[in-house]
Amino acid sequence: MVSPTVIGIGMPLDLLSHVDHPVPTNNQTQKEFNVAVDGITGKVAIITGAGRGIGREYARALAKAGASCVVAEWDEVNGAETAAIIEKEGGVALFVKTDVANEESVANMVASTVAQFGGVDILVNNAGIWGGLEFDSPEDISLELWNKVQSVNFTGSWLVARAVAPVMERRGGGTIINQSSVGAYLGGPALSHYCASKAAVNGLTRALAVDFGDANIRVNAIAPGIIETEATLSNVGDELLDSLEATQCLKRRGGTDDLIGPVLFFASDASSYITGQVLVVDGGGVKLG
Ligand SMILES: NC(=O)c1ccc[n+]([C@@H]2O[C@H](COP(=O)([O-])OP(=O)(O)OC[C@H]3O[C@@H](n4cnc5c(N)ncnc54)[C@H](O)[C@@H]3O)[C@@H](O)[C@H]2O)c1
Repeated sequence: MVSPTVIGIGMPLDLLSHVDHPVPTNNQTQKEFNVAVDGITGKVAIITGAGRGIGREYARALAKAGASCVVAEWDEVNGAETAAIIEKEGGVALFVKTDVANEESVANMVASTVAQFGGVDILVNNAGIWGGLEFDSPEDISLELWNKVQSVNFTGSWLVARAVAPVMERRGGGTIINQSSVGAYLGGPALSHYCASKAAVNGLTRALAVDFGDANIRVNAIAPGIIETEATLSNVGDELLDSLEATQCLKRRGGTDDLIGPVLFFASDASSYITGQVLVVDGGGVKLG
């Protein structure tokens, strides 16, 4: 049995002993991006797992760029709150309670989207099991937990993408953005379930780009490094985030604002000839992997 001496992605365990940190509020301010994002205004975007964290910030950014946003989230309180925040900021949003790992729930969400907005142009497959994830050695991860992580992080992206693709095709095409992680490249002790699921997301991204190319649907992925969110802080703590900064090219921690440019890029016409790619957004951490 190998006991995990390092937890998270390239992070020393002893720094985890006291996880005492401020939790970001659900109403963080968001950096205003002054970039032209042609091809988002008037479009319909589904963002899964948008109840909090990165998904919420993706949804807010896409709404500010002019998309009508469907918040596809299984947490009813957080999902409804994200939709309310978007509306308060002048955007258009619809919360649909969704379990991305459940085919029927996904079909219902897509049907609700079409009923409300007439179609889908942009899909962000962000939902994942990261907050509250149990870290453990491969010997001690139950098959049940392994399957649960795959069913949301990986199979969920496949289920939503294949449900949405025919709807996008009827509109003449679309763009799908999957959420990977640097864990797909670096691995991470005690994280075999999570890292494998994100490596599978990279393979899925390439495979779906091939399958959906004829329908003018682009499929790309964003692979963030460790990003400061409520989930990350409760998983690994503040000190660990500090220690990571030294290992990166850019000596600061990543925040949700750092992912907004990339998601707008892949959602917009700015990336109109790019498909099957995974963009690592980690302040230059992977270089050390
Ligand atoms: N924060 C990071 O450091 C980081 C780094 C790389 C990748 N990611 C990925 O980014 C995404 C968001 O990360 P986060 O830090 O905001 O984590 P988070 O745990 O706060 O967000 C995940 C969201 O997905 C929702 N969700 C979980 N299972 C679902 C399901 N079956 N159906 C619908 N919604 C579901 C959760 O309720 C939550 O709102 C995840 O896919 C995560 O793996 C995060």
